[in-house]
Amino acid sequence: MTTTDAADTAAAGALFCDPALFADMDAWHRRVAELRRETAALLVDDLPGFSPFWVLLRHEDVLAVSRDNDLWHNTPRAVLGPDEDVERMVSSGMPLPASLVHLDGDDHRKHRKVTSDWFKPAAVRRRQPRIDEIADLFVERMRSLGGRCDFARDIAQPYTLRVIMDIYGVPEEDEPLMLDLTQGIFGAADPEFQGDAPDPGTRLLDAAMRFAQYFNEVTADRRACPRDDLATVIATGEVDGRPMDDLHRFWYYVIVATAGHDTTSYALSGGMEAMLRDPEQLAALRDDPELVVNAADECVRWTSPVRHFMRYATREATVAGVTVPEGGRVLLSYPSANRDERVFRDAMTFDVRRDDADKLVAFGGGAHFCLGSQFARRELRTMLLRLSQQLAHIELDGDPEWSQSHFVSGVKHLPVRYAFR
Ligand code: HEM
Repeated sequence: MTTTDAADTAAAGALFCDPALFADMDAWHRRVAELRRETAALLVDDLPGFSPFWVLLRHEDVLAVSRDNDLWHNTPRAVLGPDEDVERMVSSGMPLPASLVHLDGDDHRKHRKVTSDWFKPAAVRRRQPRIDEIADLFVERMRSLGGRCDFARDIAQPYTLRVIMDIYGVPEEDEPLMLDLTQGIFGAADPEFQGDAPDPGTRLLDAAMRFAQYFNEVTADRRACPRDDLATVIATGEVDGRPMDDLHRFWYYVIVATAGHDTTSYALSGGMEAMLRDPEQLAALRDDPELVVNAADECVRWTSPVRHFMRYATREATVAGVTVPEGGRVLLSYPSANRDERVFRDAMTFDVRRDDADKLVAFGGGAHFCLGSQFARRELRTMLLRLSQQLAHIELDGDPEWSQSHFVSGVKHLPVRYAFR
């Protein structure tokens, strides 16, 4: 390999782990589309601090690996980070992460079962009246803001947070704390979300500790006085006939509280950003409200707020034309797979009418398929329907801004000017 080739590979590898590069998604998609045309699997073996991995760029391979949960394991390193992060955890005696996305096999299946009834289509359908109420509340808030707001910060984020916290049973007054903790966990690398912490690692650790403290109190409360909420299900959940241990319970709280809103919020704000670039999209939705199911999926495909998960080969495996040795790892690039020209017609165009939006892989696949996808879809449809029917006009009122994270990110500021009918 020549020096230039090596520099090119390192630069390409950085596309998947440098948080700052996710702040310009147009540029990111342009560069990744070029890579995807040339190769299905990009070997990244020269990034300082990261052991090697292949990036799977195409839809077919991301789906195949997601679905083969015997061959490919998630492990406690399901999210890409510098090797020293894990080494530091191990040497300091800290337990490794143990949420659903970090578990495999029976262990994963048994823990997922603790809450899975709450996320089944019929259970989520019963929550629709409450989602409607919350959506109405935030449309009212938008009206009261007088024709100008930051749609991401003022509407998308608090709306999606309220829906999930309502199911959870976290009171409204604690929502700012939950938001801060989630940003500490997902967005620690974004300077705007770093707070007073000297570095992202400290911010993350601090968020995790405050999270643990908060939910220890919730556990004690729900065990003493059970309620009809998800916090009670987690607080009293059993695995193999025994109460879930402290570590798994803590991580259960973390995944449900964090995975549920930043993701959906970015799908909504990013979908809106795309519709503002092409006003004909919102008009199509206004003229044909039935399009809203497709439009919600298109928002998720287009934004792919979860940027990746890792998978580890339990034995030698062949994927995307490469042989991965036992213990070798691959990065599933959902945003790349969701723009794969082999699957999506005119993949680089946002189109609420596209007939292939439901082929999206933004929710993953297989045993780990997003537990909350039904909630996310309903939240998006509910808000999109209201906005398309009630807004007379909406336009950009400044430059949108994307958050900086290689794991979960999206449009964090969307200044808009609008009028209601
Ligand atoms: C647009 C919004 C969302 C997107 C794009 C998204 C995406 C994902 C992805 C890619 C995974 C991993 C799937 C895999 O490894 O195959 C996942 C897992 C998960 N998601 Fe979501 N998600 C969203 C909304 C939600 C919501 C609203 C919740 C509700 C609490 C949620 C809860 C979870 C949980 C608990 C898991 C772990 C499942 C497991 O490992 O068994 N997500 N999500």
